[in-house]
Amino acid sequence: MGNQKRSAPTIVVIFGASGDLTSRKLLPALYNLSLDKLLTDRLAVIGVDRTAKSDDDFRRLMRQAVDKYSRRGKADDAPWAAFAADLHTLSGDFNDDSLFKKLAEMIGDKKKEWGTEANIMFYLATPPSVMELVANGLCNAGLAADKARSRIVCEKPFGRDLDSARELNAKLTCVFDESQIFRIDHYLGKDTVQNILAFRFANSLMEPLWNRRYIDCVQITVAESVGVEHRGGYYDKSGALRDMIQNHLMQILCYVAMECPVSFNADEIRNKKVDVLQAIRPISEDQVHLSAARGQYDSGWVRGEQATAYCKERSVSPESNTETFAALRLQIDNWRWHDVPFYLRSGKRLPARVSEIVIQFRPVPHLAFPPDTVPDIQPNRIVLRIQPDEGIQVKIQAKQPGSPMRLQTVDMDFLYKEAFPRASEPEAYETLLLDVILGDATQFMRADQVEAAWSVVMPIISAWENVRPTDFPNYPAGSWGPDSAVMLLARDGRNWWVPDVQKGKPSDASP
Ligand code: NDP
Ligand code: BG6
Repeated sequence: MGNQKRSAPTIVVIFGASGDLTSRKLLPALYNLSLDKLLTDRLAVIGVDRTAKSDDDFRRLMRQAVDKYSRRGKADDAPWAAFAADLHTLSGDFNDDSLFKKLAEMIGDKKKEWGTEANIMFYLATPPSVMELVANGLCNAGLAADKARSRIVCEKPFGRDLDSARELNAKLTCVFDESQIFRIDHYLGKDTVQNILAFRFANSLMEPLWNRRYIDCVQITVAESVGVEHRGGYYDKSGALRDMIQNHLMQILCYVAMECPVSFNADEIRNKKVDVLQAIRPISEDQVHLSAARGQYDSGWVRGEQATAYCKERSVSPESNTETFAALRLQIDNWRWHDVPFYLRSGKRLPARVSEIVIQFRPVPHLAFPPDTVPDIQPNRIVLRIQPDEGIQVKIQAKQPGSPMRLQTVDMDFLYKEAFPRASEPEAYETLLLDVILGDATQFMRADQVEAAWSVVMPIISAWENVRPTDFPNYPAGSWGPDSAVMLLARDGRNWWVPDVQKGKPSDASP
């Protein structure tokens, strides 16, 4: 966390180099880390995929990717040329041991050229189904043997369900030590997600309030305005529960709900997170309809543009039952959170890209003001804005100036871009890739944590697989999801906090 050391000589091997993640996130992140001088000059990248191409073609494609996706915009020629000189490619069948033998030779040659040992990062930017294959290939080629220097990074989702995650964990740990395995969830690399810990545990103000005595409910929203874009093939087998809730939203929930760690030691943080996941009250399969809602987008309008229905997207089955929206109501059975519901929701083709956590406080025990001074009293809320307009809002009641006495909800605002005007926020993948290179596992998921997160969603997965949805598509693109998600809160006498996408400021919305 927050490493500013410079790394040792490093070779990054990316499996799935032809994929979206490599172009959109990994290469721009590595390039930016090198521009920021956080990486050694001795950095080589080997992109491995199934289709043969020359090093020059790979460099050209990666330059296009950096120009398009880097937070710094187009790359300048000289630094790019220096970085690109050590980009290489290797192609072959992931089932074939000779691919891994060739890889071992390339790594050996590079170390010989540098005249030094190097850390090796194997990054699996592939679907989970390929991970075991790659791990075995690496093992057979002797590439997993150096426990101190070789590391494997596994993308989310880790497995497809609890059984496959357990199996994958068992197989990976036959080849690698747990200390070599970095299960990545890029939400943990976002500054605003890491700031949840700073907000809670570096301010004595928060702790006395952060419990069932004062908090009425917690709402976590990760909304996207985009649809599945070109990832229909992957997404149609995944859905919102596996793609977002099981990982990104569960990680956020852990940070909001965990106890204060004794130190920022990787295992200490991970123990505290596992405690939260294990305290989540299991949902029985026949009660899933009361604790979860699912949706699939129909055609509609998003930010002034027409959007097609999910079932008509490229590589999506016209008969698809895959959910593009999921909402959950969870209870955490411990002293801090007993009876405080945690509402989680995530979906595609919602009105805006916005991720935020709302901590909603209980009303005052007795309102001394006459009703006409507070025509529309709102609960106090803390809104932790993950993205965009990163920051924190505290919503309080204030007296309007003058007479008669009138109260109004106002905001106390902390905005990252105002508090840190000159800072250029690193992308989550920059932070996390640097952590892997430096061997810091704090922001990565341990095997038991991944399994605990799967355990929470398994009854929902089973119930949804056993009972096909009869109402899909059930929300128009550009809306906040299906009515069943509104009902999830309405049954408790609450409603979702809805960000106001027009003004860039949030507002309350009735169900
Ligand atoms: P893509 O489908 O774009 O790319 C997948 C890559 O894996 C391709 O290079 C593909 O090769 C390769 N691959 C797939 N199957 C096999 C196989 N059987 N043998 C060898 N190679 C194979 O997916 P993404 O890049 O979008 O995603 C990769 C992983 O990263 C997923 O687990 C995803 O959840 C995760 N992720 C992606 C994010 C993103 O922004 N894209 C963000 C966060 C996580 P080929 O081109 O030959 O098919
Ligand atoms: C990925 C999901 O993990 O996160 C995508 O696979 C989703 O479906 C993406 O679009 C959202 O990430 P971010 O950082 O843009 O909120």
